[in-house]
Amino acid sequence: MSAHGRERRITTRDIHQRRSAGSIVALTAYSMPMAKLIDRHCDLILVGDSLGMVLYGMESTLGVTLDMMIAHGQAVMRGAPRACVIVDMPFGTYQESREIAFRNAARIMAETGCSGVKVEGGVEMAQTVAFLVERGIPVLGHVGLKPQSVHSHGGFRVQGRDEAGAAQVRRDAEAIARAGAFAVVLEGTVEPVARTIAAELAAPVIGIGASPACQGQILVTDDILGLYGEFTPKFVKRYAELGATAGDAIARYAEEVKAGRFPGEEHCFSAAAKK
Ligand code: KIV
Repeated sequence: MSAHGRERRITTRDIHQRRSAGSIVALTAYSMPMAKLIDRHCDLILVGDSLGMVLYGMESTLGVTLDMMIAHGQAVMRGAPRACVIVDMPFGTYQESREIAFRNAARIMAETGCSGVKVEGGVEMAQTVAFLVERGIPVLGHVGLKPQSVHSHGGFRVQGRDEAGAAQVRRDAEAIARAGAFAVVLEGTVEPVARTIAAELAAPVIGIGASPACQGQILVTDDILGLYGEFTPKFVKRYAELGATAGDAIARYAEEVKAGRFPGEEHCFSAAAKK
């Protein structure tokens, strides 16, 4: 609790300190209502660029812009007073130079009020991560399967399958943790490799399709609620089928209107209005 009687927001420092104490609960949110639903259950909420696929129907995350991330980041911040909110830096906004990365990360932080940014990349991004961290921008790393590198990966492919690939993911995670990331998301990596990284890394590892040995898990909320029907990764456990439930509700509404019953209209605005 803070001096104002409000629960204080979880910080990136708190998350970093969870390396040795308990599992980090993390989910994505893209909107105020979803943020409101998940805030009290989550340590970390990610405004992920997966919103390009989940909300906008894009085939990959590559078309997501900085303005989109800022608008969704602002919406999530309005619904999440408690969790540590991190906003993804979209493709093309941080790879070109450390200075451009700083300018865009600073815009995200200033315009949304979020607690930090996430960048995808390993060894090649380590200097940029250090540059941001040294200048006051907390960074959540993202290694293993990096959706923004879908074309260089040759598809959404599990990483670390052979010796060279496994060594690369380990080097990437190590470089990003050493650069000062407060935690590292490890996505789509074969289990024994993910387990080793979770055991070795100084920063907490938040897995998604990685290993139960990680220090936390992050999933796309729409996946666990059955709201995103295009594709569900095999490691995702569904806790509800909200897409199907919503579909049924809409069908029932449409049936009533088609039958000439306009639900709710009969109670509307009677002539004897209240004075
Ligand atoms: O964009 C996203 O939602 C993510 C998570 C799935 C880790 O990067």
